[in-house]
Amino acid sequence: MTIFVVHGPNLNLLGEREPAVYGTLTLAELNAQIRAYGRSRGCEIRTYQSNHEGRLLDALQRARHWARGVVINPGAYGHTSYALRDCIAGISIPTVEVHLSDVEAREPFRKISTIAEVCIGKISGRGPQSYFEGIDLLIESGRDRLNSAEPA
Ligand code: DQA
Repeated sequence: MTIFVVHGPNLNLLGEREPAVYGTLTLAELNAQIRAYGRSRGCEIRTYQSNHEGRLLDALQRARHWARGVVINPGAYGHTSYALRDCIAGISIPTVEVHLSDVEAREPFRKISTIAEVCIGKISGRGPQSYFEGIDLLIESGRDRLNSAEPA
């Protein structure tokens, strides 16, 4: 199973950006941990980061040719972007929304998710573990889909 892990705006600054909120791992270190976790679960992980909404949409659209699942940390676009929501709905790849911080416990605007309804789950507040649990959720949901496709 190949999983596409997508990081949205400002996540390239991980490690130096508000470390008390987002931790001290750099994006490269986080991606290395995500890849290692994926390997331990038998998955290939491809990662992508962009600060640009359109580039995120282009990358997600291309992924429909190869990805079996998407884990996306949409950053602030997850609070504002209907284009991202339409893209996730349109590509029909099971997608999990993740956040490093606990968005429910922060400013009111962070409680809003434009993409939650088109995702199979939302995991926040668990640091890098949010991504690992996102991978787990995709694996479980893939297994459920396969099982429900089996004849009774
Ligand atoms: C974030 C939470 C968002 O509210 C914020 O805009 C981010 C990071 C997180 O991982 O906790 O950029 O998605």
